[in-house]
This record gives sequence, C-alpha cells and structure tokens, in this order.
Amino acid sequence: MNKQKKLYIETYGCQMNFSDSEIVGSIMKENNYQSTKNSEEADVIFINTCSIRDNAEQRVRKRLGELNALKKQKPHLKIGVLGCMAERLKEKLLEEEKSVDIIVGPDAYRDLPQLMAEAESGQKAINVILSADETYADITPVKIDENKISAFISIMRGCQNFCSYCVVPFTRGKERSRDPETIIQEAKDLFEKGYREITLLGQNVNSYSFEGRENYHFPNLLADVAAVNPLLRVRFATSHPKDISDDLIKTIAAYPNICKAIHLPVQSGSTNMLTKMNRKYTREWYLERISTIKKHMPECAISTDIIAGFCDETEDDHADTLSIMQEVGYDYAFMFKYSERPDTVAAKKFEDNISEEIKSKRLTEIINLQRQLSHHSNKADIGKVFEVLVEGTSKKSKEQLSGRNSQNKVVVFPKENYKVGDYVQVKITDCTTATLVGEAV
Ligand code: SAH
Ligand code: SF4
Ligand code: F3S
Repeated sequence: MNKQKKLYIETYGCQMNFSDSEIVGSIMKENNYQSTKNSEEADVIFINTCSIRDNAEQRVRKRLGELNALKKQKPHLKIGVLGCMAERLKEKLLEEEKSVDIIVGPDAYRDLPQLMAEAESGQKAINVILSADETYADITPVKIDENKISAFISIMRGCQNFCSYCVVPFTRGKERSRDPETIIQEAKDLFEKGYREITLLGQNVNSYSFEGRENYHFPNLLADVAAVNPLLRVRFATSHPKDISDDLIKTIAAYPNICKAIHLPVQSGSTNMLTKMNRKYTREWYLERISTIKKHMPECAISTDIIAGFCDETEDDHADTLSIMQEVGYDYAFMFKYSERPDTVAAKKFEDNISEEIKSKRLTEIINLQRQLSHHSNKADIGKVFEVLVEGTSKKSKEQLSGRNSQNKVVVFPKENYKVGDYVQVKITDCTTATLVGEAV
C-alpha cells in the first residue's frame, strides 16, 4: 500500500461548508488521505470557500496568495479550491490563481479521488457539475470538531428561493432533501458515540421534503430526530420566514429537547425592501409569525440576519429595520453591509446606489442597537434557572465550565465536579452582552 498522504482542510463560510468538509474528509480517508490539523505537514491543502459577500472571497484570495509562496518551498504540495467560489468562478480560478491544482464544486466531491489522481500526475483538474439529486446521504462524515458534544447533520442541499441579492442558488444549485432514514440513523450513531446536540442544516430547512416519502415534511423529520433520545438536543438552521408553519412551531413547542431558539433572518424591516429582495413576505407577515412563536413558546430565543444598504434603501426603510429589531427584541443577530454579487437579479437589474459611507453608518446603527437588545435580553435572564449542556472549559478560566442553554446562549459557571457532556441546572447571577454567568443549583 502506498504511504498515506496528509490532507489539511481549511473551511470558510457557513455551517453547511463545515459539514461538507467532513464529507470531503470521509471521501479522502477512503482513498488513503489522512486528515491532519497541522497545515505544515500537509501534502494536500483544500480550501473550502464562500462567495456570499465580496469580502468572503477576498479573504480566500489572500490565503491563496500565501499558499502560492508556500508551494515554492514545497513543490509537491497540491492545492484544491472547493465549495462556492469554485462553483462561481470555475476555470477562471485556475487562470487567476497559479497555485491552484484542483477546482471542485459542492456537488462533485465524490469525484475527488479521480481529480486528485489527475493532479498528482501534474495536470490541473476541475469538476464543477451541479447535481439535482446529490445529497451524500450514504457518506458518514469524519468529525473534525474538537468538542465531541455537538455535531451538524446536513438534511438538504441547494436553494431555489432566488432572493435577489443572493449568490447561493448559483453556487449550490437546486434544492433537494436527503433520505430521512439516513438522517435519523446518523443522529442515532452520533448519540451512541456520546454526542448530545445536533444541528440539522439546510439553506431553508422548513421546505424539507423528501421525494421518496409523501406527506413527510420538516416537522415530521424534526419530531423523528427528537425521538432518538430525550438527552439529544436538536437544533436547526436556517428557517425562511415565508415557510415557518404553525405545524413546525407546535412541533418545536411539543418536545423539550428541541431547542427553543429560532434563527429567522428578516433581512430588512421594510416591506418595500423585502419585495425588492424577493423575500416573499411583508413586515406584517413576519411580525405575525413572531407573535405566533411567542404565543406558543414565550421563552423562545429569536435571532436574525440583517442586510444594511440594499439597492434604493431610503432612510425610512432603514428606520423600519431599526424598529422591527426593537419590536421583535432579537436575542442575537448577524449583520452585514449589502455586497453586490455577480449574476444575481440585483446585480443585473438594480443599481448598487447606497454609498459605502451610508452603508457603514446604517450598519453601525444596527450593530449598536443589537448590542443593547442582546444585553437587555441577557439581563432579563438574571435570576432564571436554565439547563446547560456543558461543552468545555471557559476560555477565560480553567475553573469555569462553558456551555449553552436551550436558547443557544453561552453560560459559564464554576466547574465543581461537572464535566463535558453533562446537563447542569444553572442559576444566572450576572451577564455581559455576550455571556450569561451563573452557578449550579
Ligand atoms: N438561507 C439563509 C441565509 C444564507 S446566507 C436565509 O435565507 O436566511 C446568510 C446571510 O448572508 C443572509 O441571511 C443574508 O443576511 C446575508 N447575505 C446574503 N447575500 C448577501 C449579500 N449579497 N450582501 C450582504 N449580505 C448577504
Ligand atoms: Fe440565499 Fe435566499 Fe436561498 Fe437564503 S433563501 S440561501 S438568502 S437565496
Ligand atoms: Fe457561503 Fe456558500 Fe455557505 S456562499 S454562506 S459557503 S452556501
């Protein structure tokens, strides 16, 4: 047998990319490539990339520049670009980045062994074919993460919502759902290995629907995964507001081990902007969904994504975003400046006409408001008792453990005799904008 080669994977972008890197690790392992955490000893370096905003691509370009220098000292090193940038730029990346040997799109990872063989023989190799049905359902991912408590399970791929600003439908292809049996089996296996929390992943999990099974939708899958074991926490991301049904809300409420935290990206508080973004809901509709969630689960945390400075956004539109943030009282938010992406409807039809200066000013106002809202939400937890799943020791002190409550907030508390993987009842005594502090009761 040939000597095993060492593979180092560096991942950028969303959780789906992290999950894909585990699938890639598994495919490569079957083909005699051993994963390493040390890039210096690698024979092969894969960069799993993201195209969501221009700065995400710039970060990867910079990294490829560094790898080009490394390759001069280590001529046998092979470099692969995987994921969304590979899919978006295709051959162009081979022309522009001399260090790159292989380009592989998100649906072509099964072809990696052949592509590697071509690359080893000195050729450049590329496969960016998108698929209508690939879900990698039969591949058991190789876990890369250190903490053996929480894991991701990818339940669907692709997106065809075509929000006008978004590159994902172009880089990830058609929406398709994975066979539920393989998802439930993976959850069972992870639980048996000691994992206590899984996050079901997809660009829009609410529209999960497996072709081979009629009348089986996301609420059914969520309930089946929650039934694996009451000690297995279940999370999911991301939900599109247009399809968050009463049925789903009731399912989340019904199972104590389905976490009470919903990530529901609003993008903007202005119906005009939402229409232009092709989000398919209005401000009022979104707020109605939030009140239904809160009616069934008053304790449920709500987080969001917000884009500042989309095309034609007025001061009034921006004020609507600030006011919807207040009205919902988000516990957490990811906030971005609009970044025009080639080929999207927005790039083709609208003008990116909000100046960098105004985008920055609006984003700063959004971030400052969210900081207040997060702090307010944390202060409201002082005195409450939460069940915390311990994930590790606190970054700041070895005497403190760190974990999360069902609402996905980080909680730190004195270690005593508790250990990673335990569920501990913690009473909150203090907080910062980002963390709850407490003690076991
Ligand atoms: N599927 C998820 C989001 C995936 S992308 C959903 O629909 O909610 C994650 C976030 O990136 C989006 O929610 C959006 O807020 C942001 N985003 C996407 N395209 C963007 C762009 N062109 N400029 C700035 N932010 C963008
Ligand atoms: Fe992009 Fe919209 Fe699909 Fe989310 S739902 S990935 S924002 S197109
Ligand atoms: Fe980025 Fe692709 Fe995810 S563009 S956000 S890595 S689906």
